Amino acid sequence: MRILGADCIIATLGSFHKHLRSLVLRLFGPENLRLVMLHDVQRIAHASLLSWLHQPRIELKQATSSMIFSVTAKRLISYDESSSSEGKLWMQFNAFLQGLLAFPLYIPGTAFYRCMQGRKNVMKILRKLLDERKKAAHRGSIDFLDLLIDDLKEKKHLMNENFALDLLFLLLFAGFETTSSGITAALRFLSDDPKALQELTEEHDNIRERRDDPDSEITWEEYKSMKFTSHVIHEALRLGNIAPVMFRKVIEDVHIKGYTIPKGSKIMINPSSAHLNPTIYKDPNEFNPWRWKDRAEPVGGASKEFMAFGGGLRLCVGADFAKMQIAIFLHCLVTKYRWKAIKGGTMVLSPGLQFPDGFHIQLLPKA
Ligand code: HEM
Repeated sequence: MRILGADCIIATLGSFHKHLRSLVLRLFGPENLRLVMLHDVQRIAHASLLSWLHQPRIELKQATSSMIFSVTAKRLISYDESSSSEGKLWMQFNAFLQGLLAFPLYIPGTAFYRCMQGRKNVMKILRKLLDERKKAAHRGSIDFLDLLIDDLKEKKHLMNENFALDLLFLLLFAGFETTSSGITAALRFLSDDPKALQELTEEHDNIRERRDDPDSEITWEEYKSMKFTSHVIHEALRLGNIAPVMFRKVIEDVHIKGYTIPKGSKIMINPSSAHLNPTIYKDPNEFNPWRWKDRAEPVGGASKEFMAFGGGLRLCVGADFAKMQIAIFLHCLVTKYRWKAIKGGTMVLSPGLQFPDGFHIQLLPKA
């Protein structure tokens, strides 16, 4: 909570928590995904891929982070990197990210200290933006910050400026860090699996061929038809365990399998104990997207066997958005380009998915 803010959505309970979720879902819920985000995501994916084409190498995690940050920050705070006086806002998150899983020693020089400084810098920018926006005359287009300001004016809930700023911070961070890891992991697995890559490419080429104009925009129906892509995404997220742990506080004694977890305990849930369990997933360390053909994909994004997006009341509110971004990116990639792994690509899976030497690729036009 020190890292994400004491007023962060993850620390809220009950009806206020529900209210915050419903606000976020106005942006990342199915209706807005279909009508607004689908278009935004493909426009930025196409532009990013085209710009990578002329570069000798691309570090994928960083490049996709920047791409995803543009999509999210545009709708959250109308952020446009090219016209921003603050420099690359997403770069300001870097120090923050470095110390995310560090020992919490707040002394200059430690990773945790840098992390907290990174947070301070981003919060300063967000605070300035909020103050400016409150004074601004009516604007033409509406973003998530405007929704939050309207909500603040209504004063119906516990909402205050600190909650609003912490929510913006979390959404900016959660949006790009996790999804870019998902894309990088998917491409890393596909690089070693030509059969899966071929089936994926065929799925997307078929979608393109069925259109009157092959270059027209991806429709919602097309997106929903991407079955093998969805298997690839689930498999990459199962193995990647991007959110390595989740925390819960026990509010009443829990009796389970002959044990009692006493009230007041704090629990750390480790999703990989399900994701890598050989009785649930045969040969669990193998990348095998076909395994999802025979098993129901988790309804609503989660089950006891698949917890990449958590579950229950705190199920990730960005799950559908993240899956859509990965699928659309893959579509834009495999229909027009191919890639060559150049350097790095070593994946460290614990304590959280990391690519210590990055994953450098060269993007080439499709043969
Ligand atoms: C592959 C991408 C993603 C993964 C693996 C992921 C994973 C998770 C997990 C495991 C949780 C539950 C944490 C818990 O139960 O304690 C969570 C919650 C959350 N996620 Fe995501 N996430 C992803 C993408 C996103 C995106 C794109 C957004 C929004 C832009 C987002 C926003 C949130 C928020 C706001 C919560 C807190 C929900 C609550 O407390 O009610 N996530 N995410």
